[in-house]
Amino acid sequence: MGTVVQLKKQINNSYFQLKESVDEKLALVEEKIKLKLTSDVELVQKMTNYHILTGGKRLRALLTLGSAKLCGYTKGGRDINLAACVELIHSATLMHDDVIDVGDLRRGKKTLNSIWGNQSSILIGDYLLSRCFEMMVEDGNLEILKLLSSTSAQIAQGEILQLQHKGEIDMLEETYLKIISSKTATLFAAATKVGAILSNTEGREKDALDFYGKNIGLTFQIADDTLDYNSELKLFGKKVGKDFFEGKVTLPIILLFQKIDSIERKKIDNFFKQEIRSDADLSYTLNLIKKNNIISECYKKADYFINLASNSLSIFEESKEKIILEKLTSFSLERNF
Ligand code: IPE
Ligand code: IPE
Ligand code: MG
Ligand code: MG
Repeated sequence: MGTVVQLKKQINNSYFQLKESVDEKLALVEEKIKLKLTSDVELVQKMTNYHILTGGKRLRALLTLGSAKLCGYTKGGRDINLAACVELIHSATLMHDDVIDVGDLRRGKKTLNSIWGNQSSILIGDYLLSRCFEMMVEDGNLEILKLLSSTSAQIAQGEILQLQHKGEIDMLEETYLKIISSKTATLFAAATKVGAILSNTEGREKDALDFYGKNIGLTFQIADDTLDYNSELKLFGKKVGKDFFEGKVTLPIILLFQKIDSIERKKIDNFFKQEIRSDADLSYTLNLIKKNNIISECYKKADYFINLASNSLSIFEESKEKIILEKLTSFSLERNF
């Protein structure tokens, strides 16, 4: 009998490959964003500069650029403008989200709300959205305008839905998926679909990229929610246990609740009923998560969406972009930043 040799797991560098493949365009997206956010009002300029400097992965912008390239878009700069739009919607959402979640750390730095307060942060978020709408109108494609507008509305609804279910320890997985579809996956889907629309592709390619984006978005949010119970602050740029302290019920808690006995359930239920949760409450929960193998259960669930995303690209002809985007599906889960 032969021996099975365990292959060393390769590091997934698709994010960096994608960045490299649209390098020049991404730099133009950054420039465009900076230019578009210019303001005579000193505080607006200060806050937007700070926000731009904290960077972020620019993943959604990269997805628009990568999808457009996959669809053969080469001439013109519409992909740059629309990638900037998508990134602005994302940034505005984060500004509003950090107010809602009372977040004080993002991208390893202090949040806008923790420096300048809630009022200015909400308004800066609105400012970004308004600038984004100007750019969409300049682009002039009604299908894209409609898509990105309804995406913004969908994100807001997802955030509200999540608020409504705060602390609901026996939340259905179905409800969780509905929430993350709205608040996260719709923007990923829009980012990739815009790439197809601006390239004037057939309906099939648009649908495929829409489906790809949606499923990579679901994977991405599941990874985010799982990392919250499984990461070091340094790599993640956020605090571990943030969702727990917020009282936000996410996949790890939903799966844990299904597995534990009634005494443990009572305890976890009490944690989420309390106004605030302590470090000791988190430790107790983290121990149960470990004991019940919840992290790998979450990754297993996400694998399903990875496969859907990856397979949806099969209709495209072989290309460098296709390979990178296929690999990006697992990156979105394996990432630790
Ligand atoms: C954070 O998104 C919000 C989620 C959907 C989890 P990212 O992790 O893409 O944020 P930045 O832009 O890279 O900071
Ligand atoms: C981020 O959601 C904002 C949206 C996806 C709309 P979360 O609140 O779950 O993510 P973080 O942890 O603050 O980035
Ligand atoms: Mg939130
Ligand atoms: Mg948040």
